[in-house]
Amino acid sequence: MSKEIPQVAPAEGKLGVLIPGMGAVTTTFIAGVEAIKKGLAKPIGSVTQLSTIRLGKRTEGRSPLIRDFVPLARLEDLEFATWDIFPDTCYEAAEKAGVLEQPTLEKLKEPLDAIKPHSAVFDQDFVRRLNGPNVKQGGSKMDKAEALIEDIRKFRENTGVSRCVMIWCGSTEVHHQPGAVHQSVAAFEEGLRNSDAEISPSQIYAYAALKSGVPYANGAPHLTVDCPALLELARDMNLPVCGKDFKTGQTFMKTLVAPGLKSRMLGVSGWFSTNILGNRDGEVLDDPGSFKSKEESKLSALEQILQPDLYPDLYKNIYHKVRINYYPPRGDAKEGWDNIDIFGWLGYPMQIKIDFLCRDSILAAPLVLDLVLFLDLAQRAGMRGVQEWLSFYFKAPMTAPGLYPEHDIFIQLMKLKNTLRWMRGEDLITHLGLEYYD
Ligand SMILES: NC(=O)c1ccc[n+]([C@@H]2O[C@H](COP(=O)([O-])OP(=O)(O)OC[C@H]3O[C@@H](n4cnc5c(N)ncnc54)[C@H](O)[C@@H]3O)[C@@H](O)[C@H]2O)c1
Repeated sequence: MSKEIPQVAPAEGKLGVLIPGMGAVTTTFIAGVEAIKKGLAKPIGSVTQLSTIRLGKRTEGRSPLIRDFVPLARLEDLEFATWDIFPDTCYEAAEKAGVLEQPTLEKLKEPLDAIKPHSAVFDQDFVRRLNGPNVKQGGSKMDKAEALIEDIRKFRENTGVSRCVMIWCGSTEVHHQPGAVHQSVAAFEEGLRNSDAEISPSQIYAYAALKSGVPYANGAPHLTVDCPALLELARDMNLPVCGKDFKTGQTFMKTLVAPGLKSRMLGVSGWFSTNILGNRDGEVLDDPGSFKSKEESKLSALEQILQPDLYPDLYKNIYHKVRINYYPPRGDAKEGWDNIDIFGWLGYPMQIKIDFLCRDSILAAPLVLDLVLFLDLAQRAGMRGVQEWLSFYFKAPMTAPGLYPEHDIFIQLMKLKNTLRWMRGEDLITHLGLEYYD
């Protein structure tokens, strides 16, 4: 990507939002957009809808809303397409997810009932706890990719959308490392034709999206586009991609607290995190293979923020443990509990306890909205490959090979806003501010 200010194409026409997986997050996201469009709710938690951006010097008093500063698609222009292994409509799936209350859903019945999922590309080797009937049958993995490409083509034709973005909100797949089949587009396509066991369903969706000229975001921690083959395809097709794993409950808290402790050079000897949750996501994560994907994503954030190599006296011996327990009575209302053992001056120990009674999908839905709108913006700005400026939204941000990810949420937000300033030819804000004291 060149550093020259990009020409950002206007957000003309409708934007197709393609979502594999129509469970708790997707239904809460779509229902929320419909509720906001009807004036029943405000877009709380969405940076694209509510946040302002300061431009120029603090004395200039220029702080427009982000959505007035950069050309974003409007909520009225979003059209949804979904895929799921269960045939329930968005309304039925939202009822089953149990996140939103019945009176709210009742008011949104019409638009939600109209959204029916396409049949899914699914493989139980990758999500062991689920099985459903709405699945594309037979053929090679390449045949399945072509069937998805056809779904996308027909959706475009039927709705007349001018652009699309795909965002994975399906279940977390079991942990895999990139293999030989993931090293180049040619090897990957050969693997699709041979139905190589190392190619996951989410990678088939990502391939279909990229081949169709559609940017891809990964809301789960599994590999998908984080491999050379699909990154090569994204670059060849001039498409932006981003991931992985929405930064919502406990890791969001971690990335707020850990930079603060580090900023004051306070030590951490242990960080024990446990969660109880009872939704379908919790059930899938009860499987050790899927949990492994999540665990890696959750562990990496703290390690990267604290930088034990640079601060061995403070963080070298940290004991970090993360647990997720499936506990059905809680449904989507998760409890994330942290015990943090810290130490200060002369090594004296102290403790911090965080008990976050959070609602997972309520936290995730605005992130889906922002990612869809920003990824579409990136596409119109001609940005391709990994979009590190969207790290703000992810537990395990993707980066260029050899670059460590930035996990500090405040640095991530600064980077996001500076990228928007750069897109519009405004001065980047360095926070130096010496000029005020000349
Ligand atoms: N809610 C959060 O705060 C949060 C945070 C970070 C990541 N995530 C991730 O987002 C994803 C969605 O979370 P959720 O709470 O909505 O889960 P969910 O279980 O309610 O929904 C996932 C849906 O994906 C479907 N699915 C599974 N494999 C599929 C496939 N191959 N094709 C199409 N559909 C498929 C399932 O049938 C299910 O309906 C999960 O991977 C989760 O780990 C969620």
